[in-house]
Amino acid sequence: MKIRKAIFPVGGLGTRFLPATKAMPKEMLPVVDKPLIQYAVEEAAAAGVEEFIFVTGRNKSAIEDHFDHSTELENVLQAKGKSEALITVQQMMREPGSVSYVRQQEPAGLGHAVWCARNQVGSEPVAVLLADDLILGTPALQEMVDAYRDGNMVAVMEVSPEETSSYGIITPDHEKGPLITVKGLIEKPAPEKAPSNLAVVGRYIIEPGVFTNLAEGHKGAGGEIQLTDALASRIGKAAFAGLKFSGQRYDCGSKIGFIKANMAFALQRPELRAELHKWLAEQISS
Ligand code: UTP
Repeated sequence: MKIRKAIFPVGGLGTRFLPATKAMPKEMLPVVDKPLIQYAVEEAAAAGVEEFIFVTGRNKSAIEDHFDHSTELENVLQAKGKSEALITVQQMMREPGSVSYVRQQEPAGLGHAVWCARNQVGSEPVAVLLADDLILGTPALQEMVDAYRDGNMVAVMEVSPEETSSYGIITPDHEKGPLITVKGLIEKPAPEKAPSNLAVVGRYIIEPGVFTNLAEGHKGAGGEIQLTDALASRIGKAAFAGLKFSGQRYDCGSKIGFIKANMAFALQRPELRAELHKWLAEQISS
């Protein structure tokens, strides 16, 4: 089934990255030379998404500027014959009218952010991508779209038992290859209460019933309106699948995850690999 629309919740405060995120959105932090949000938008576009809905907040205008023309910059690059750089800044433009921005007004949680996009979504399944979950290798959303039939779907990965309290954790039912039927979902359980070690990461395909639940505004873990709670409420009413994606995920919402992502993505770049590799080896041996 084709997924035409995607929501990018970018309304969070990014407190773990202060002071960098005081005036700059966390989603604009670069991994090598590209902001996190651009990786997410490119992943969605590659999976066939045509409409891009950003749920923003205060201090997020850099994201709007990033996906718009920068006439002055483009003129300078043109005049100086910097055609490669010009292509780079023009490539990320999307078709006029295909990008929209909604203000979340208060960072009341991921579920609340998603609900703020309800009027742009209408009554069709929609993808949700969290830019701070960065995936190296096979794009996870493409794998999900290929496997999606109906209902709700989340990307899942195995975490160590002591990490369950940082994630939504599923109760798996049947497993068939990378696809798992989900019969339960709980937000941030303590290790002794976790039903499995299969954690939800920031890629979702959600059906319209989730918005109906979000509209009720129930607060969950941390006093926030949680997307996982709304998804859990749909179990038994709509199909629910987890997909074990094949790429490598980096948690760029945490400092160590962000640093690892920069290293891993830089090591993939032919022009950076040899020197970085050499430097890393020197650091480790010293
Ligand atoms: P996080 O909880 O990781 O982001 O939410 P945060 O709150 O910005 O970061 P910290 O914990 O304070 O450092 C995951 C994603 O959900 C979005 C964030 O922008 C991020 O992309 N989000 C979160 C919203 O859009 N609105 C919210 O109210 C909360």
